[in-house]
Amino acid sequence: DGYNVAVVGATGAVGTKLIEMLEQTNLPLKNVKLLASKRSAGRKLLFKGEGLFVEELVPEAFDDVDIAIFSAGGSISQKFAPEAVKRGTVVVDNTSQYRMDKDTPLVVPEVNKQALKDHQGIIANPNCSTIQMMVTLAPIKQSVGIDRVIVSTYQAVSGAGAQAVEEIKQQSQETLDGELPENLSAEILPAASDKKHYPLAFNALAQIDEFAENDYTKEEWKMVNETKKILEDKQMKISATCVRVPVITGHSESIYIETEDKISLTDLRATLENAPGVTVEDDTSQQIYPQAINSVGKKDTFVGRIRQDLDIDNGFHLWVVSDNLLKGAAWNSVQIAETLHEMNLVHV
Ligand code: A2P
Repeated sequence: DGYNVAVVGATGAVGTKLIEMLEQTNLPLKNVKLLASKRSAGRKLLFKGEGLFVEELVPEAFDDVDIAIFSAGGSISQKFAPEAVKRGTVVVDNTSQYRMDKDTPLVVPEVNKQALKDHQGIIANPNCSTIQMMVTLAPIKQSVGIDRVIVSTYQAVSGAGAQAVEEIKQQSQETLDGELPENLSAEILPAASDKKHYPLAFNALAQIDEFAENDYTKEEWKMVNETKKILEDKQMKISATCVRVPVITGHSESIYIETEDKISLTDLRATLENAPGVTVEDDTSQQIYPQAINSVGKKDTFVGRIRQDLDIDNGFHLWVVSDNLLKGAAWNSVQIAETLHEMNLVHV
């Protein structure tokens, strides 16, 4: 007769989309519980036209919950995901907290749903930029192998949360009103946890999350390490440059790949056209290619500008765009929950 499902971080940028995805899911639902901080407790949010009260996140909130989807930050997942599992709740976690743990499956359902079989209560949703790259690259890897990946991202602000969106809107308005860049206030971007903050309005920032080993950011390391885990290929050569751009929603990526075996451009295109979760939008004669604003509200990943490298025979360039809040977060999480149900794995 259906599952009790909780959304942790229901008032946030991803939480809001999780509610929308649960309104559309074919997962049998008994009850939906919305959890957030004490500040939001008592607020009413609509679910299928019905007002639901937001409740404060406390361990006991999970007592009667079958599936909880977390998107309230890594420290909240660290503290409360084990509390949920202890109470028999299966957790789908949107944060980076558990992604690289050996015992935690890191899942993109089109790519590696078999990894769900080994879950021990927590399933991790990969980083938004990783997910759209995985639905694109996995079918190519399966057909001809991939030796090397170089990716540059053009990431939207909503990936940094609702407050970051407010920040750039404010900066944009002030700029249009004549304010100089040096007078704009910035408190969140490029990384809330880092020391310095810069305006993103009319700008591009080559920093997402904090800096880590070898002068790469944590976001760049997430793309590298998560890809190797999901594709089960520790040897893959891959490096990333992650950039925040003044787009509200929709991550874009320029991906360069070198395949192991030869493949024609026609066959590469056919592979992508047949890939689950992928829509090819590629007709340069009609100026058709994926755009961030067109991806908003869609579950698919859009691929275009498919072309051969000018110097390397097995080299190809792709332009890959998806709604970072949907396939990059809320939709992939709800899809994981649907897949757990289909595979009869909703138990700890
Ligand atoms: P709240 O709105 O009550 O602060 P975003 O990713 O858009 O920044 O959203 C973060 C989400 O995480 C919000 O729903 C926020 O709720 C929630 N959150 C933040 N801190 C806590 C906390 N201490 N306990 C529960 N939820 C939290």
